[in-house]
Amino acid sequence: MGYVFESAHGVHFLRAALAFSKTTKANDLLSLESTTEVLPTATKCCDLLRDLDHYFAVEFSVWEGMSGNLIHGSKSQPVGDQLAMEDLVVAVQERQEAGFILEGDGVLSLAVPVPSEVDTNTVVTAWFVTREIDADDSLGDASALLAMAMEDTLEWARGQEVWSPQTLLRLAEAVSGKRIAEATAKRYARDVEEVSENLATTYEEISLLHTVTQNLRISSTEGEIGHMATEWLSECVPAEGFVVQYLPATDEGEASFRNAKSPEFCSAGDCQFDRHEFTKLIDYTDLKRDSKPYIANASVTGGDAWPFPRIRQVIIVPLSEGNNVFGWLAAFNHREGLEFGTIEAQLLNSLGALLGIHSSNRQLYREQAEFVANVVRALVSAIDAKDPYTSGHSDRVARISARIALEMRCKPKTVNTIYMAGLLHDVGKIGIDDSVLRKAGRLTDLEFEHIKMHPEMGYRILADLKQLSDVLPAVLHHHEQWNGGGYPHGLKAEETPLIARIVAVADSYDAMTSDRPYRKGMCDERVDQILREGAGDQWDSDAVKAYFDAKDDIVTITKREHIELMEHWV
Ligand SMILES: [Fe+2]
Ligand SMILES: [Fe+2]
Repeated sequence: MGYVFESAHGVHFLRAALAFSKTTKANDLLSLESTTEVLPTATKCCDLLRDLDHYFAVEFSVWEGMSGNLIHGSKSQPVGDQLAMEDLVVAVQERQEAGFILEGDGVLSLAVPVPSEVDTNTVVTAWFVTREIDADDSLGDASALLAMAMEDTLEWARGQEVWSPQTLLRLAEAVSGKRIAEATAKRYARDVEEVSENLATTYEEISLLHTVTQNLRISSTEGEIGHMATEWLSECVPAEGFVVQYLPATDEGEASFRNAKSPEFCSAGDCQFDRHEFTKLIDYTDLKRDSKPYIANASVTGGDAWPFPRIRQVIIVPLSEGNNVFGWLAAFNHREGLEFGTIEAQLLNSLGALLGIHSSNRQLYREQAEFVANVVRALVSAIDAKDPYTSGHSDRVARISARIALEMRCKPKTVNTIYMAGLLHDVGKIGIDDSVLRKAGRLTDLEFEHIKMHPEMGYRILADLKQLSDVLPAVLHHHEQWNGGGYPHGLKAEETPLIARIVAVADSYDAMTSDRPYRKGMCDERVDQILREGAGDQWDSDAVKAYFDAKDDIVTITKREHIELMEHWV
């Protein structure tokens, strides 16, 4: 059994935990379509009405819960006394619990609140009888409640199925519970769909950023990265055009920016921009002052004040690292005419941050490379100052070595290392006594032993400079000989590192062709003869062959004036 609670105006609520079973009468149902056609304001609860109609086999009326006003009256049932129904509907709406009015002669008005998960502020009602009605029964109270004549009330009541109030409430609760469960399931389904969409967007973003990070190399120029970025974006962002603009370096950073005078500008897609127009846009948006993402959609671009008629939607984000802004990344005009939102802005922003970090790293790398170049320049100057008779020797050996390396198809990085090795191969002469180094006459054995220490001295000078570690083998071994007769270690053949074997050929050529205080430099023909005879004995025959193959260029190199060191190599 349940418990019946009576509230004002004879409205009853019942609480129980009994199971129920009820045979449905599907044949008596009103169709959903007929309900929704006449009930546009209550379409949200039409599924509940259909269920109620199905399980109770009657058509319910629909009421506005707060006011108790009728929204839609049942076609197959009486509406009832307005005041009594208003009391019932308002009470049920307040308690959010099914309730009823039961008259003594067995007529019951059931009211069911539409669950808030389905629709708020709506109550549905229907009439039932709770006992068998005989033809001679007096239904005075029921007649008043139903607001019908006595005869009509009796006729209506005798045609009704008999229900117990408890069963009606249980069934109402069960139908509401089912509808709540279905509404909740729909909401979960929408949530899942939303999460799936977000997941797909996040996956796209992660995928894009993964591709970008895989391709960002310190050696990639801003121009290469800019073109790649616009390609990547065109696959992920539905925009008609993209721009990547790198800013010129500031005065402070100009020394380390080799490309400072030609900052990169990339425009891609169907909607292209030139540097001038894009710069005007940046000035207009005041992004230089406030480096945050900028989004403008129709509400901004549709106004009379918007000065860029080609731009309907735009997102601009900075390429930044910390407080440093290296440029801008922009997407223009949604391909489907929609507005740009947080998803597109977030994607561009993430990419902008990555490109900013890349630019920052490149700046640091350039500064470090410049620093190393300055160290090398200082060391070469020190060598030249130490032995003015051989001034320019380091520079010539560097360029000849690099040319031989190119002829031997060494990789660009190796060619660069060999160039640096050529510049620094005699750095150990800084530690040799001036009297020996500058001696005009023949060296004594002791003096020669002393000068033979310069490879190891050079090695020790550079050993702690990590950035120059690649050149150390050439500094230490450029006086080794193929036959093992050289110094300091007497290495044979390929025991001597390749870069040292190449520098050895260039060093010997320049030494033999240069004038010395005590002798004139040899002519090229004589030097070539010596090199040819020494190939495979004193020198690596491959390096000597490369020397002869590149002979014309080498002659040109040695005849050129001493140029700025490392102009093409660092
Ligand atoms: Fe040397
Ligand atoms: Fe040398």
